[in-house]
Amino acid sequence: MISPVTGEQPPLVALRDVSKRFASRMDLASRIAARVGAGPAQQVVRALDSVSLEVKQGEVLGLVGESGCGKSTLGRIVARILEPTSGERFWRGAPYSAFDGRSQRAERLAIQMIFQDPFASLNPRLRIVDVIGEAPVVHGLIGREDREAYVADLMARVGLDASTAKRFPHQFSGGQRSRIGIARALAVQPQFLVCDEAVAALDVSIQAQVLNLFIRLREELSLTYLFISHDLGVVRHLSDRVAIMYLGRVVELATAGEVFARPNHPYTQALLAEIPTIEPRKRAFQPIRGEIPSPLSPPPGCHFHPRCPHSTERCRREQPAFREVAPGHFSACHLNDTK
Ligand SMILES: Nc1ncnc2c1ncn2[C@@H]1O[C@H](COP(=O)(O)OP(=O)(O)O)[C@@H](O)[C@H]1O
Ligand code: SF4
Ligand SMILES: [Mg+2]
Repeated sequence: MISPVTGEQPPLVALRDVSKRFASRMDLASRIAARVGAGPAQQVVRALDSVSLEVKQGEVLGLVGESGCGKSTLGRIVARILEPTSGERFWRGAPYSAFDGRSQRAERLAIQMIFQDPFASLNPRLRIVDVIGEAPVVHGLIGREDREAYVADLMARVGLDASTAKRFPHQFSGGQRSRIGIARALAVQPQFLVCDEAVAALDVSIQAQVLNLFIRLREELSLTYLFISHDLGVVRHLSDRVAIMYLGRVVELATAGEVFARPNHPYTQALLAEIPTIEPRKRAFQPIRGEIPSPLSPPPGCHFHPRCPHSTERCRREQPAFREVAPGHFSACHLNDTK
């Protein structure tokens, strides 16, 4: 849908005020105690708190933040694996619900997700030709008789030897299994990939090869990525824009160049200050002063205030607005009001 007013294309994916709450995972003792009234009632985890985000056609949007801040929840909501508790999702400007009908299969397949541990998501009893080739047959994209040739093409595209198609997942290395996971996602001809810690389980040298594959595939197939990683080095390497998350909220968003050269939010500044530059393996998050608070009871006001060196009384009371601090650069911090 191209806007009749501006002639602009809508973003490929947009989230508006998306929130997700989970009932907290309780251990057995707590569940029994809660049932007999002897313990706290089931608590609610606020995994996402009113997130609005756009991913433009053809871009790589990096999504970073410490473990538990809601990255996977956001990725799964984008990929339709999870339903939001509230808020709206749009594909090319139309609500996701517009694609629920049978005839909109292509739109539903257009977003595919690639997970952290490719081995965990591969059925060990399936041969690679089945792992990659089954979904396109089931969805009617190819005939069963074309499956082997189709899989061979895909394997070559992701840098795998097509003569190994009859082997089982455990017969491949970590890097090869990653490539199998990518080929499986590509098999249904997606336009958008949500990559959730897609290279996190790999050795550094293999990581670089798989990242280069992502870069090449994006160009060859005109793909768009939401690239989720706890590793700033990975995100910096690949992303056009970067969103920084903290406890269920996006706190900063800008081009990758801007975020790394001129981080605005004190949380982003703290993250960047912690990146050692020599040892690439350690370019993940290091603990910032203070523990990450629980999403069971997020601090009021600015969620970051208990750890922020600049926090004031207002930060403890009032949630900062997410606003544009330079063209295309957004941040949610009260300090911007006084600049
Ligand atoms: N199915 C679930 N049930 C209960 N809590 C969940 C569930 N999935 C995620 N959570 C909680 O939601 C929060 C965000 O989790 P997640 O999106 O996995 O974060 P991240 O990917 O950034 O590590 C965490 O506190 C996590 O424990
Ligand atoms: S709003 Fe306050 S507590 Fe939050 S990041 Fe800005 S200065 Fe720190
Ligand atoms: Mg995760």
